[in-house]
Amino acid sequence: TEHGAKVAQLSACTKDNTHPDWRITTDYGVKQSNTDEWLKVASEDHVGPALLEDAHGREKIMRFDHERIPERVVHARGAGAFGTFKLLESAADVTSAGVLTDTSRSTPVFVRFSTVLGSRGSPDTVRDVRGFAVKFYTEEGNWDLVGNNIPVFFIQDAIKFPDVIHAAKPEPQNEIPQAQSAHNNFWDFMYMAPEATHMFLWAMSDRAIPRSYRMMEGFGVNTFTLINEKGERSFVKFHWKPTLGVHSLVWDEAIKINGADPDFHRKDLFMSIENGAYPKWRFGIQVLPESREHDFPDFDILDATKIWPEDEIPIRWIGELELNRNPDEYFPEVEQIAFCTSHVVPGIGFSDDPLLQGRNFSYFDTQISRLGVNFQELPINRPVCPVMNHNRDGKLRHTITKGPANYWPNRFGAVPPAKPSEGAYIDYPAKIAGIKARLRSKKFGYHWNQAQLFYNSLTEIEKEHVAAALSFELDHCEDNVVYDRMCERLADIDLALAQKVATMVGGPIPQQAGRPNHGKKTRGISQLEKPAET
Ligand code: HEM
Repeated sequence: TEHGAKVAQLSACTKDNTHPDWRITTDYGVKQSNTDEWLKVASEDHVGPALLEDAHGREKIMRFDHERIPERVVHARGAGAFGTFKLLESAADVTSAGVLTDTSRSTPVFVRFSTVLGSRGSPDTVRDVRGFAVKFYTEEGNWDLVGNNIPVFFIQDAIKFPDVIHAAKPEPQNEIPQAQSAHNNFWDFMYMAPEATHMFLWAMSDRAIPRSYRMMEGFGVNTFTLINEKGERSFVKFHWKPTLGVHSLVWDEAIKINGADPDFHRKDLFMSIENGAYPKWRFGIQVLPESREHDFPDFDILDATKIWPEDEIPIRWIGELELNRNPDEYFPEVEQIAFCTSHVVPGIGFSDDPLLQGRNFSYFDTQISRLGVNFQELPINRPVCPVMNHNRDGKLRHTITKGPANYWPNRFGAVPPAKPSEGAYIDYPAKIAGIKARLRSKKFGYHWNQAQLFYNSLTEIEKEHVAAALSFELDHCEDNVVYDRMCERLADIDLALAQKVATMVGGPIPQQAGRPNHGKKTRGISQLEKPAET
């Protein structure tokens, strides 16, 4: 089974240092009698000079000097575990992917949860989005579903990702503030990029201070595609729903825990698995046939700042994920795992979602700088199926490939491309027409409607929490321009919310609701039917 294959692969690289026969050796295998005293010119009553000759001493220090690698440029802080993905119902009507059609399979997975903005040592319970990244080791290769616990994103086009992350990470002149989003640059960008409005309301809600990784939903966010045996394509969004339900901390708790127990979430995950309380999620797909792409006048289905309403496109719950084994060692497993949205298997494809297209480039690229070009050879990243091609060399290459040809085509016919009947990945032959330009589709300009839907969907106490979170955040913006504009933006979404926040912070109270969508002629508050106040 794939499970057996992954376990065997990992155990081939695993050493259990509790065995009584082990003795300290150098890295080149020679046993050492003393690892506590540097080789010196010394006597019992005289400390003399240390000798450069001490290869063991030098090796120990030099290995230590190089222990750190660059942390992830985002999502640096995380925790992870192994588990099992079980398909309960086949989706063969929409995809040919074995992992989503073969109900007899149980696919090994590794999941890494993370915060986005804090550095590797930052506390767990900050207000932030959480990463929910799943690597499926399938028979047809690795499928990485790199998601978050919030179903939408701040921006629509990958070219703005460096900007949104620069604005959200600590400010460049002083690296303040760490791990929290409460600062001028972040809120400056939230105003200047109106497409971020929907997501920042989610980020100000209780979703951004989860009680536990085990109690978070997960979302693929971007629109992917599924292709079935007949070659028909559908659009798809991926969902994870925790069987424990969605639960959050309250802000005061979260702040206290940050100080008292900064490892709160990673400890909770580790201990629950250690104690056999295995966290579980249902896996769901929202599927839309290609023919319905333009059926939705209020949003573009390729816009990552929008959800697909579940009443119009219901979720099919077809699988189950269980996390049931802790890593043996953090660094080689959790730190060195490398997710790439570009890792998909036959039957799953991409869409023209301009955020996804950029992500597909970015992850692979960043792994080269974080881990090196041979990162796929690391035990945690290795697929369970055979890997063979004519890629070669690079730093720290492990694989030794026999045979005279390292190119294709070659006179031996060695390692040819696979045929469709042999399970080859086939790129969907999509029809494309258009002009080459830096443009976005008109529907990408409708920023308020779903932001309002989200805010209006909250209960009164949840709305109170959003107002309190916003007042905490905006109170930390000493730049009045940032603060004043943000209160106007809140009034675009909900006047009462804006007035409440302004009152709490003690700033000018906005009087006017619902400006049109950032000055553009698009659907704003006036078109939205607001639910009756209860
Ligand atoms: C991590 C880029 C949007 C979820 C990362 C990393 C990069 C990156 C460079 C670090 C990877 C590493 O060093 O291993 C981007 C770009 C985006 C984008 C360019 C938009 C254009 C998103 C979105 C989501 C997301 C929309 C959620 C759906 C994650 C997660 C990780 C991550 C979960 C952590 C993976 C792990 O646990 O190792 N992203 N990202 N990102 N990203 Fe994104």
